[in-house]
Amino acid sequence: MKLLVTGGAGYVGSVCAKVLLEAGHSVTVLDNLTTGNREAVPAEATFVQGDVPDMASEILADGGYDGVVHFAARSLVGESMEVPEEYWRDNVVATLGLLEAMRRHEVTNLVFSSTAATYGEPEQVPITEDMATNPTNPYGATKLAIDYAITSYAQAHGIGATSLRYFNVAGAYGEVGENRDVETHLIPLILQVALGHRDKIFIFGEDWPTPDGTCVRDYIHVRDLAHAHELALETNRPGSHRIYNLGSGDGYSVREVIDMCRTVTGHPIPAEVAPRRAGDPATLIASSRKIMEELGWDPQYTDLETIVTDAWAFTSQLGDRAHSARRARTVTPSR
Ligand code: UFG
Repeated sequence: MKLLVTGGAGYVGSVCAKVLLEAGHSVTVLDNLTTGNREAVPAEATFVQGDVPDMASEILADGGYDGVVHFAARSLVGESMEVPEEYWRDNVVATLGLLEAMRRHEVTNLVFSSTAATYGEPEQVPITEDMATNPTNPYGATKLAIDYAITSYAQAHGIGATSLRYFNVAGAYGEVGENRDVETHLIPLILQVALGHRDKIFIFGEDWPTPDGTCVRDYIHVRDLAHAHELALETNRPGSHRIYNLGSGDGYSVREVIDMCRTVTGHPIPAEVAPRRAGDPATLIASSRKIMEELGWDPQYTDLETIVTDAWAFTSQLGDRAHSARRARTVTPSR
């Protein structure tokens, strides 16, 4: 297939672009590089720097595209509470434009990067796709709004789409992994402590209703996640919008994740308990039975040790180079 991958310079997008290329697809990456890294885009992909939807429309106008994998989005929960207008504009308005461009240029195959944040605080775990969606922050709300829009486009205009609701994506695939200017995610932050770039990791609350009092999350390896996109693209049918959760089905507490990082890195990783982070649910665990049964998704890297080992291999080779580059960018005076 000839595919447009929006946000393909970001963490999940770049791994997915790599996996799709390896599967024999042709890939054009569109990314405005606001948060993405140009060097993460696989060399075999065509790269276009620009925004969704305008540049996406221009690319699709060239013709011959079979599908779109849409990652480009703002995706920080905390930031979305502070500047919701940017999330509604860059996530919802931009995606509506992308859907229009797909309709105009008769591209009917779409895979959309959705999130567990559409569910909010779940009534029970594991979370299945038929459970209530009550997002607790604008990030989750904008992703849910897009899911509704996609359903309408599928019904009215024959788009064949799949929304994949990611739980906690982690790990790396060789030279592509998590490398953000502003990092808020647990595993990369812990590994920065192991590298000596941070003194300690803060544990956001130890009074949660969980076995050890710290939050429990379902960590999914980015390679398994990327493979699900490939399956979705291959099985999308015009007029149908499917929604699948993507997780490993196992929950690990913050303390368990820190312990695993200590084991993998051999570093003591000092940790200090801090207040709870606003908006965090206590426990998020996915049921991914639906995608396993319907698409035959068969995750290969489900144990936390593999996830952390791959993340550490990536982070440690990136190491000081990325840290210095980040510091240099930070001190560059703005004009
Ligand atoms: N945490 C800490 N210390 C840190 C960072 C995180 O204790 O320095 C804790 C958080 O409180 C949370 C867990 O580690 O309990 C995981 O936090 P992350 O920030 O890594 O991930 P989230 O669970 O907050 O976010 C994930 C996805 C989001 C998605 C969200 C749904 O990354 O895209 O789940 O709630 F929206």
